[in-house]
Amino acid sequence: MAPAQTLLAPPTRPEIRLTRLLIDNQWVDAAEGGEFETYDPATGDAIARVAAGTAADVDRAVKAARRALERGPWASMDAADRGRLLAKLADLVESNAAELAALESYNCGKTISDAKGDIGGVVNTLRYYAGWADKIEGRTVPVRGEFLCYTLRQPVGVVGQIIPWNFPLLMLAWKWGPALACGNTVVMKPAEQTPLTALRVGELAIEAGFPAGVINLVNGFGETAGAALVGHPDVDKIAFTGHVDTAKIIQRQAAETLKRTTFELGGKSPNVIFADADLESAVAGAFHAIYFHGGQCCTAGSRLFVEKRVHQEFVERLAEKARHRQLGDPLDPATEQGPQVSREQLDKILHYVDLGQKQGATLVAGGQRRGDRGFFVEPTIFDGVRDDMAIATDEIFGPVVSVLPFDGVDEVVERSNRTNYGLAAAVWTKDIDKAHLFAKRVKAGTVWVNCYHVVDATTPFGGFKMSGQGRENGEAALEHYTETKTVTVKLGG
Ligand code: NAI
Ligand code: MG
Repeated sequence: MAPAQTLLAPPTRPEIRLTRLLIDNQWVDAAEGGEFETYDPATGDAIARVAAGTAADVDRAVKAARRALERGPWASMDAADRGRLLAKLADLVESNAAELAALESYNCGKTISDAKGDIGGVVNTLRYYAGWADKIEGRTVPVRGEFLCYTLRQPVGVVGQIIPWNFPLLMLAWKWGPALACGNTVVMKPAEQTPLTALRVGELAIEAGFPAGVINLVNGFGETAGAALVGHPDVDKIAFTGHVDTAKIIQRQAAETLKRTTFELGGKSPNVIFADADLESAVAGAFHAIYFHGGQCCTAGSRLFVEKRVHQEFVERLAEKARHRQLGDPLDPATEQGPQVSREQLDKILHYVDLGQKQGATLVAGGQRRGDRGFFVEPTIFDGVRDDMAIATDEIFGPVVSVLPFDGVDEVVERSNRTNYGLAAAVWTKDIDKAHLFAKRVKAGTVWVNCYHVVDATTPFGGFKMSGQGRENGEAALEHYTETKTVTVKLGG
């Protein structure tokens, strides 16, 4: 096996300039002076010390956000001008895309080509919501009697946004876009593993002209900065992406102040291959479904159902591709898979690989850490997996797929739905009947037919069951960032 790093002269590392908190358009140290280290997952080396916000910083940021919401220029700004600011930010992200992609790749470990794809998604999302800003309308309502009744859609208020490390900037855009289009102000806590790129986009937001207090960034840990945001009485809503167990903690804590909450959580998404599918593209699609970003994807196709008639051939072809995947330096354009984000994730994945073998699944590819520096894991395939094995029930969040043979539509729908998750699902077939039957009956917020991981700013995204609450992207997100006010006016004496 080739070592993870095969390059003689690795690409140069991006410069890290911004490490402080962004509160009220000022760069500030944490009130208690704390800092934490952030790492390059390709080497495991610390690359910067970043301000670690605590409750005192969250309080400062929330006060700034409240001022901006109630009294600043943002409060009286025309909706069209809010849209123009978002569009300007999109332009600035686009013109700095190469720098942002390199920094994202460096801190998160995603390949430089995936990082460029993410930045494209950021630009699309900000532009999409820029367009919405002056199109968020109420209605006139035909109430009984001589009244004029109409609804206003107003911002929810100060919004706390807590995001994970797998798509740091894309998650930022999914959360800022609708929040700002609707006129809210934002306090965001990026993930502690990937604190760097949000700061650079925060700087671009100042350059775009966002007034002080509209956008605040408080890096730090979940149990301190994150929990302080959830508990703060002057935060109106929390939008969260991350683990189901964290969401449960947040929902309990949010109950104290009856905050609005939206959640985008994990999955164990079924990817279903019928024997009549175009096998060439189904193999490529199943490969992309699980190994995109090293499996660190809430929609990863980690339960691979293959119809028995083609099961053997399918697994062989998938394993062949897995053995040839190029692991290495994420900043090297030739690399196909970078490291996992952290030691914690590496350990979690290897634990499940071990468990899969102990519970009797057949390891047909991968299963090892690659190299002894950084957090690389080989693309891994388990065959002969039973539905009740841990590798088939738990979100692993790594490059590990469980192959589950099946027979027929009814069986595969029933088994696909036998999980607490319901984020995404996919079906590969040439039979439109099977495709639409599966799409109708599977319990998932997103269904793909003969494709995978196609996610766009325009389409509602979110989970059934324990994969989430609410929807992000598309028009659907606006509902979660506005309050509806009913105004009733008596007409005549
Ligand atoms: P996590 O849910 O702990 O972290 C996500 C965010 O929540 C981070 O910003 C973190 O600081 C914050 N957070 C943690 N505890 C908090 C608390 N008590 N109050 C407020 N905020 C809090 O996820 P983690 O530990 O990074 O990853 C663990 C597992 O979660 C992964 O292995 C994966 O299975 C899943 N995950 C799912 C993601 C998704 O896209 N749905 C993204 C990242 C992780
Ligand atoms: Mg955690």
